[in-house]
Amino acid sequence: MPATNEQKLKYIAKLVAECKNCNLYKNALNHVPGFGNPNAEIVFIGEAPGATEDKLGLPFVGNSGKLLDKLLNSINVPRSDVFICNILKHRPPENRDPLPAEIIYCTPFLKAQLLVIKPKIIITLGRFAMNYFFPDDRISSVHGQIKKIIWKEIPLTIIPVYHPSAGLRNGAMLKSLQQDFLNIGKFLGKI
Ligand code: URA
Repeated sequence: MPATNEQKLKYIAKLVAECKNCNLYKNALNHVPGFGNPNAEIVFIGEAPGATEDKLGLPFVGNSGKLLDKLLNSINVPRSDVFICNILKHRPPENRDPLPAEIIYCTPFLKAQLLVIKPKIIITLGRFAMNYFFPDDRISSVHGQIKKIIWKEIPLTIIPVYHPSAGLRNGAMLKSLQQDFLNIGKFLGKI
C-alpha cells in the first residue's frame, strides 16, 4: 500500500526533528514542522516559530496565530481544513530574521511538504515566505495579488499577504491584511 500524505508528512517531520544542518536546533525547545490537513487545498506559510510555537511545537499558536484564526474566521475557512507551516522549522533566537543560510538549509523540508500536499493555493504570510517564490518582489507592492505560477510542475495560485505580526504592530497593515483576506474569501467563494 502506498504511504498516505499523513505518513509522508510525519516522515518529513521526523527528518526536521533530527536536523542539525544549522545551529537553530541548539536553542530550540521543539521543532515546529507544520500542522494541519495533510490533503489541504490551501497551505499557509509563515516565517519561523516564535516563543509559544517553540514551546508547543505547533505553528501560529501565539498572538500572531490568534490573529490568523480571526482572519480565517472572517472568511469562513476552518483552520482544520488548511495546512500551516513556516519557512524555518526551528525558532531563531529572540525571533530575529531568518539568515540566508538557514533558509537554504531549511526550505528543502518546506519543498518536500508542498510536493506531498500539492495544494492548489498558497497564502504566504510576510516577506520571507513571499520571497521563497518571488525573490525579487516587495511585499508592500504585491500583497493581495493573486499570482498563478507553475512550481515544480505543480500549477499554484499564490497570494502574498502581510505577516500577522505586522498587523499586530501597525493599524494600516492590519487593515490591509483584513482587506486582503476578504478578497481571498471572495476568490475562494467562501464569502
Ligand atoms: N510567526 C510565524 O511566522 N510563524 C509562526 O508559526 C508563529 C509566528
